[in-house]
Amino acid sequence: TTTDFVKIVEVGPRDGLQNEIVFVPTDKKIKFIDKLSQTGLCSIEVTSFVNPKWVKQMSDNKEVFSKIEKKANIDYPVLVPNAKGLYDALEVGVKEVAVFASASEGFAMKNTNGSIQQVLDRIKEVTTISRGKGIKVRAYVSCVVGCPYDGQISPKSVAKVTEQLLSFGCYEISLGDTIGVGTINSMNNMLKEVLNVTSPKKLAVHCHDTYGQGLVNIIVGLEKGINVVDSAVSGLGGCPFAKGATGNVATEDVVYMLHGMGLKTGINLEELVECGNFISNIIGRPTQSRANQALHKK
Ligand code: HMG
Ligand code: MG
Repeated sequence: TTTDFVKIVEVGPRDGLQNEIVFVPTDKKIKFIDKLSQTGLCSIEVTSFVNPKWVKQMSDNKEVFSKIEKKANIDYPVLVPNAKGLYDALEVGVKEVAVFASASEGFAMKNTNGSIQQVLDRIKEVTTISRGKGIKVRAYVSCVVGCPYDGQISPKSVAKVTEQLLSFGCYEISLGDTIGVGTINSMNNMLKEVLNVTSPKKLAVHCHDTYGQGLVNIIVGLEKGINVVDSAVSGLGGCPFAKGATGNVATEDVVYMLHGMGLKTGINLEELVECGNFISNIIGRPTQSRANQALHKK
């Protein structure tokens, strides 16, 4: 049944690679995404249309998006911060965008050069234009439990930003523990407050694994009825504007966990592991996925 299906949004090509200092050649990014498209994933965040002066790694966004092989049953969202990014994305035929807001003032300023409200105003413009063109908009809220600049974040401010993003017409809100400081208790407290303003069917969890809490924090979300999970193959990821953040929880580990719980993802773990090995070889670092390490132990 649909209730045992958990949707995974693979963010490795975007959240993963944006944090790599050495430029990953464009053809390798394309090959990486094409390989991910063969694993059974149904949503892959491809790239971002942000200011290339801020994130050089994503400056080949148009070429990457244009040249990947798009499969009919897969969504290929891209991250956009403002109307300029949206218009650039529309030029290459993007059908879904992801916008990003913050629950903390400090991170809003460092990541997007504006206050929380200024960022929400830009997002409102993006959603208004998108609605007129039939473009789906997903939204992130960053720093939902902690911020590298402001410290602990109040669950109420997460709920407030979530509510506004939904009122703009975003179809799903991905709650980001940007720096991976969340624990069972802080995730629970945050989700309780957010679930006062919306249903779990409108939510996703986006956990970074800095303190090794990624999987348990996902479980907290699942227990509350959330069935969309963001992750990055090989545990790639991080945000250049969030000091101390490490990678996203590894998709291979999430899939291993979910399948072990009798839940369905539609994803072939072995093929996913191959994608992880492919990108790890390119960036020259061993995989951060424990499932991959275990499966390949000789
Ligand atoms: P700004 O400097 O305030 O922008 O940056 P501006 O509107 O004042 O424009 C300044 C210049 O940027 C102009 O060019 C614009 O054309 C250009 P100039 O006249 O100087 O030549 N510009 C752009 N160029 C390309 N694409 C655009 C664009 N917009 C303006 N879209 C801005 C504001 C938001 C653009 C900037 O701060 C930015 O690009 N930030 C990107 C930050 C980023 O990518 N962070 C990582 C992603 S978020 C994340 O990782 C968290 C997440 O994973 C969830 C989680 O874990 O919590 C999503
Ligand atoms: Mg992230």
